Amino acid sequence: MRPLIVIGNWKMNGNLAANREWVQIVCHGMEKGMPAGRRYGVCAPYPYLAQCGELIQTCSLAFLSLGAQDVSAHVSGAYTGEVSASMLRELGCTYVIVGHSERREMHQETDELVSEKALQALDNGLTPIICVGETAVERNSGRAVEVVRGQISRQVSILQDRLADCLVAYEPIWAIGTGKVASAQVAQDVHRAIRLQLAEFDEDVASHVCILYGGSVKPENAVELFAMPDIDGGLIGGASLNPRDFLAICQA
Ligand code: 13P
Repeated sequence: MRPLIVIGNWKMNGNLAANREWVQIVCHGMEKGMPAGRRYGVCAPYPYLAQCGELIQTCSLAFLSLGAQDVSAHVSGAYTGEVSASMLRELGCTYVIVGHSERREMHQETDELVSEKALQALDNGLTPIICVGETAVERNSGRAVEVVRGQISRQVSILQDRLADCLVAYEPIWAIGTGKVASAQVAQDVHRAIRLQLAEFDEDVASHVCILYGGSVKPENAVELFAMPDIDGGLIGGASLNPRDFLAICQA
């Protein structure tokens, strides 16, 4: 049985005061009781990881885990501006997003680089959240499943059975920050295709890997999405900035 996992991705948002209020509201809300068998996380910008980690630790119940939004593919050394997986681990991170479409597009990240980042994360006890997804042009030309299967197959070829310790996030690029959510059935169809692709490598891995959906998830559409058999939770951007909306999605 796969758990339901809801993870917020703040992207480049937040400040010391707002983060404090966010963690307080979310932790208090979670302390009142949450559905069983679920996991939650928040991926904050690097400079706020220490602050958020400390704030989360003051919650009386360990519901919420900390995550980062990217990680270096290198162990250490002359890589100005990069942050290593061991540093993230030291700051208390559990999760790290790798290969978000915004990084693939703005920083020319390839599937190979994304796999190397995932390996660094795994080697340091972090759970990588590997993002895949097609553009609007790819979807409109009927190639959505083919594109996503290609991304997954390149991850499989490098990560092999270590994929069992990763999360996958299907984030159709046309649905990110646009308000255009994929319908639950459209998302389910791609999630199923991802699982079948994983099953070609290893059926056990395929049945255990959690596949999250990301792209304009809101409290209003989360219930329907999360009810789909191959959708195991969500990676939430914009709506995760509002602590009450994030809580509502976590409870969906
Ligand atoms: P939105 O929820 O704002 O569409 O962003 C999704 C996302 O990119 C999460 O990583």
